[in-house]
Amino acid sequence: MNKRTIRDIDLKGKRVLVRVDYNVPIVEGQITDDRRIRATVPTIQYLLDQGAAVILMSHLGRPKGKPTPEFKMDLVAKRLSEILGMPVKKLDDCIGPEVEKAVKEMKPGEVILLENLRFHPEEEANDPEFARQLASLADIYVNDAFATAHRAHASTEGVAHYLPAVAGFLMEREIRFLGLLLSEPQRPFVAILGGAKISDKIGVIRNLLPKVDLLLIGGGMANTFFKAMGYEVGDSLVEDEALGLAQELLREGGEKLVLPVDVVIAERLAPDAATRVAKPGEVPKGWRILDIGPETVKLFREKLRGARTVFWNGPLGVFEVEPFAQGTFAIARALVELEGATVVVGGGDSAAAVEAAGVAEKLTHVSTGGGASLEFLEGRELPGVAALMSA
Ligand code: 3PG
Repeated sequence: MNKRTIRDIDLKGKRVLVRVDYNVPIVEGQITDDRRIRATVPTIQYLLDQGAAVILMSHLGRPKGKPTPEFKMDLVAKRLSEILGMPVKKLDDCIGPEVEKAVKEMKPGEVILLENLRFHPEEEANDPEFARQLASLADIYVNDAFATAHRAHASTEGVAHYLPAVAGFLMEREIRFLGLLLSEPQRPFVAILGGAKISDKIGVIRNLLPKVDLLLIGGGMANTFFKAMGYEVGDSLVEDEALGLAQELLREGGEKLVLPVDVVIAERLAPDAATRVAKPGEVPKGWRILDIGPETVKLFREKLRGARTVFWNGPLGVFEVEPFAQGTFAIARALVELEGATVVVGGGDSAAAVEAAGVAEKLTHVSTGGGASLEFLEGRELPGVAALMSA
């Protein structure tokens, strides 16, 4: 990475303002996935060990510039405190006299979490005065929020103009492994793309297609390819406006593109739905494709054999609903068996899928970024990365 990191800067006795991405899912008052919190621990621990006082800041949800009780950071602070095994003081705002006072009183080795940055409209507007106020709290700025680095907000971009700005370990790790896919993947390089829509991933497909040896396609987006090939897909989810695009990609991809050879179908998306395995072109009216079939799992496993680099983004079926989880889980397990391969999983749904399959810890890297990892793999420069000091 061509950016400076926390290893390159003197941290002793400094107040360090760290942008993290603690935008975690909360259901009925419970954090249902704390991976983004756990992923920042190496950075926080290092800063504390170096004798710094750590001021953490994040957004949570999309409160649209207004304080909103359901998006307060209290649950996050509690969870972080449990993970770190030390107190984490949560403040009631992210700027202002109260915050300034609390920060001034901090001692090395202490951790504070500011209130949700997006309670202020100035955050998303990248307002320079708001960024300056955030910066005034500290001596050094660290960005460890890879998952928000595609946003040019005050806390991800603006603040870097006012303080020495370096990357944390999570940011460094994300750029290293995602960057490796674009620059020097060991061959064979196999990408697996799933998820609902081609249009969401078109930038990534176009950027990766010339670099990969094979591109395995599953999930809802495969249906659009099937329809573009003239197959009858019944009531399956299809992106009709992307049919032309699918035809183009079929031409461009040629032999590199591998589509499912069988699919799991059902009349409804429900845990107790009756399912059948069908050929992609033989989906009756009233039925829809909801997972890849067993022959496809076999085919994909064969195609993955011997791969030295694998990138996976997007589930291959509706894995959240039990009868349609088998394809996604089988491929997740197959990835663990690939000896000596670098396996990188894009964030969002794919990260949730490898967690649910119980294999996340065994893979080389599971990105914490959803939109950010896709934009990175499209080859775009992320504003939150660009703003950091060059090495
Ligand atoms: C994410 O979850 O992808 C990031 O936290 C960014 O959130 P946003 O899409 O609301 O900016």
